[in-house]
Amino acid sequence: MALIDTDGGFRVSRRIYHDPEIHRRELDSIFKKSWFFVGHVSEIPEPGDYVTRPLGVDPVIVNRDRDGRVHVMLNSCSHRGVKLCRSGRGNTKAHRCSYHGWAYGLDGACRAVTYEKEVYGPDLDKSRFNLRSARVETLHGLIFATWDHRGPSLSDALGHMTYYFDALFGKFDNGFEVMGSPVRTRIRANWKAETENLSGDGYHTMITHETALRFGLFPSPEDVAPYGDPIGPKFPGRTVQCGNGHTIRIQHLPIETHPPGFLGYPEELWGEIERNLKPGQVDIMARTSVTHGSVFPNLSFLENFKTATDGPGSMCRYTRLTLKVPVDEGLTEIWWWHLVPADASETWKERSQRAYLRTNGPGGMFELDDNENFLGMAEANSGPVGLDQSYNYVAGTHHPDAHGLEWPGHVQDADRSEHTLRGFLTEWRRRMELTAVAEPAASIR
Ligand code: FES
Ligand SMILES: [Fe+2]
Repeated sequence: MALIDTDGGFRVSRRIYHDPEIHRRELDSIFKKSWFFVGHVSEIPEPGDYVTRPLGVDPVIVNRDRDGRVHVMLNSCSHRGVKLCRSGRGNTKAHRCSYHGWAYGLDGACRAVTYEKEVYGPDLDKSRFNLRSARVETLHGLIFATWDHRGPSLSDALGHMTYYFDALFGKFDNGFEVMGSPVRTRIRANWKAETENLSGDGYHTMITHETALRFGLFPSPEDVAPYGDPIGPKFPGRTVQCGNGHTIRIQHLPIETHPPGFLGYPEELWGEIERNLKPGQVDIMARTSVTHGSVFPNLSFLENFKTATDGPGSMCRYTRLTLKVPVDEGLTEIWWWHLVPADASETWKERSQRAYLRTNGPGGMFELDDNENFLGMAEANSGPVGLDQSYNYVAGTHHPDAHGLEWPGHVQDADRSEHTLRGFLTEWRRRMELTAVAEPAASIR
């Protein structure tokens, strides 16, 4: 069978998660060419501030120069490739190599070569040894970079996802900031397993996270009834394929609020949310239970409304970004950022952090439950018989499209569905086939 077979269904070969050869081709066709999130401007506020990150799977330095511009460049000396910057964050005037001492400016230019005239003579053109630079764009403080200098702009690559990003990250006058530093963890699973889940799998929630439900980590219809007019026991949800593999799932609380209520955010910031957003975006953000999705290939976002301590009165909102970086086909490094509105009080930020850590933080109950499933998928498919099977992704193909909304993209009026997973995988196949056309020997069939 083809790796992804959509004739009469949506079957996916298990090899795409477990085959080292397919992983090697993903590195070329996806991880060399996409736009990737590398950090937030609040992590490098001052000239000379830097952090070290992956760009795709290559290590990069992300720093701010003396003029305030952000540069992203390969964290590898142009001489003989030693990793230039070994620490995760700091402030510096230049990046100096530990091997022979070459030094690079904050724009990646090769500025100094040790014993230059003695070792290389009088005519060395140092500009030939500048660090490999990436193209950089920011959106609402989120820094994205790509190695592809000729491809689409960030806004063209994001397409309809920009509308949802404006709602998520553009709603406060002074934006978001990162709380603490990002955390890194590793999981023995393919990078696509969790990315697909976070793309909008509302189908697993009540099963995988049943214990969290019993512990009261989800607000119940009774918990939220005092905050609006109840509309029934069901939490209404929708899923969106935004195009280019980007997706979002939006689930609301079972209440109506008049005027719009942005429950879980500090009430003194509600006015600016309404002012900064279009009506359709207010419709997303008001009375939201959870919003999550993925930017192709490996960035996931989540804005959630959960209990910070026991009891419904402590419900608070938090925003999380996760990046799934493949180490190989069966091992993934996950980076976790917790974001809070810059203008919220310190007390509110701490409450948001408590809600995040007990639920969707690296050691949160939701994450531990999810990880068991991803580990189980990896463990059950490494044998020759398992590898020859397929997964099926037809859940919700019969669901109706949503009408009468301002929301762009292909919106379905349901969230117990694999609508968004199909959107992610369709783009995965397109990208892999593009490379296969360019290099016929590497056909994915
Ligand atoms: S490897 Fe960096 S200066 Fe030689
Ligand atoms: Fe989950």
